[in-house]
Amino acid sequence: MNTIAALVLAAGKGSRMKSQTCKVLHEIAGKSMIAHVLSVLETCAVDPIVLVVGRQSDRVREAVTDDKVRFAEQDRRLGTGHAVLCAKDVLHELADHVLILCGDTPLIRSATLNAFMEYHHSLGSKLTLMTGFTDTPHGYGRIVRNGEGAVSRIVEEKDASDQERTIKEVNTGVYLVERGLLFGLLEHVTADNSQGEYYLTDIVAQAIKASINVNAYAVNDFREVIGINTRAELAAASNILWDRTRRDLMEAGVTILDPTTVYIDAGVKVGVDTIIEPCVHIRGATVIGTDCKIESGVYIINATIHDNVAILQGSRVNGAVVSHGAVIGPMAHLRPEADIGPGCKIGNFVEVKKTHFGAGSKASHLSYLGDSVVGTNVNIGCGVITCNYDGKRKHPTTIGDNCFVGSDVQFVAPVKVGQGCVIGAGSTITKDVPEFSLAVARGKQKSYPLRKGQGSTNKDEDRQS
Ligand code: UD1
Ligand code: CA
Repeated sequence: MNTIAALVLAAGKGSRMKSQTCKVLHEIAGKSMIAHVLSVLETCAVDPIVLVVGRQSDRVREAVTDDKVRFAEQDRRLGTGHAVLCAKDVLHELADHVLILCGDTPLIRSATLNAFMEYHHSLGSKLTLMTGFTDTPHGYGRIVRNGEGAVSRIVEEKDASDQERTIKEVNTGVYLVERGLLFGLLEHVTADNSQGEYYLTDIVAQAIKASINVNAYAVNDFREVIGINTRAELAAASNILWDRTRRDLMEAGVTILDPTTVYIDAGVKVGVDTIIEPCVHIRGATVIGTDCKIESGVYIINATIHDNVAILQGSRVNGAVVSHGAVIGPMAHLRPEADIGPGCKIGNFVEVKKTHFGAGSKASHLSYLGDSVVGTNVNIGCGVITCNYDGKRKHPTTIGDNCFVGSDVQFVAPVKVGQGCVIGAGSTITKDVPEFSLAVARGKQKSYPLRKGQGSTNKDEDRQS
């Protein structure tokens, strides 16, 4: 069996994006275009993967984490044919055939690439093109066939005649070519066209000229091969990918009540029987367990949510871990390194950051807990605040197991409260509290009669307190 290297063209300017960021780094459903293409290739029998970089090559190189990827530099963007030539030395003797793809075609599936490679092998082909049929061929190179139906050349939109522009079979930008032949044909390609570029597409006419058979493989679903050149195409591609992810999840047993209002990044995992209400975003490397309920207006990113968790309306969960059976929200905010234990309750307008919240503990209303460790079965009253920042540095708060913290308490960190304590409502706790103590830190209440002969005296109250 022939070995196949993959070559991804990602050096182009992407001028139609009108962006400061090069095209292949633009994100679709949570991942850059180039990351999508590379993750598909990781599951195909190709080695090595060579990436042609040019514009913002440092940023593109940084965005690639896969060791299998090698780079070729295209210093001047002279066209797709020139981009391939720039990889000639890197590819030298590494593989028999080269699978060429564009970095701006991120929706392709590995099953399609595998079928394409299989087709190429089964024919003993030296040059195979992946084509696609579309009613809106604008912008794509058209596949020109001769009277017998064989491919004779590819003509770019800008060079095509009116008649050729009506052709609905287009070039997807995916090719599989025998390596020696590829670089041999490219030597004959000139920049004699309306854009003054060295077109990779011209290898087809060159092959025919050299009496080499060119085979074409038509993709089933054109939506997999749309090339992204503009912001509108970027949005269309995102929608296709979101749709694909929602369908995959629903097929796997997740309920999504109003799918078109739910945005789930590719790679997010959701367990069976979880219910997702309308207007929800689930992004990044999020994992959600089984039997969870994600109510409307929730935004979750890079979070781990275990089984049987409810995230109630309007909450945001970012970089947090929520253990099984916990209830979060409505309108709660879990920030990075919030680690919420099993059966906990984090209620409305509670913000938690870098805090371990022990099993069964509750903070039901209007609190801020940051840089803290809260034990098990702790009740945090309404309006409790950890004052973790002194203007320069962050400090920790520790609250032991089974504590009861009254409403409107401030913990001026660093401070430690031992297990089994009760903290009186309205206290400002500045010193450590030993275990099993009642701590009260607030001014004594005083009342003054407003009119002579009315109200009580402070003496009476002082005696009572
Ligand atoms: C290209 C094809 C067209 C095909 C379409 C599919 C050519 C001449 N045209 O057109 O037939 O229908 O893709 O989407 O090949 N690139 C470089 N260096 C360059 C120029 C481009 O690396 O000098 C890269 C780009 O980063 C991009 C890819 O090649 O990822 C395609 O380039 P682009 O300019 O988008 O080509 P299209 O006009 O879309
Ligand atoms: Ca393109």
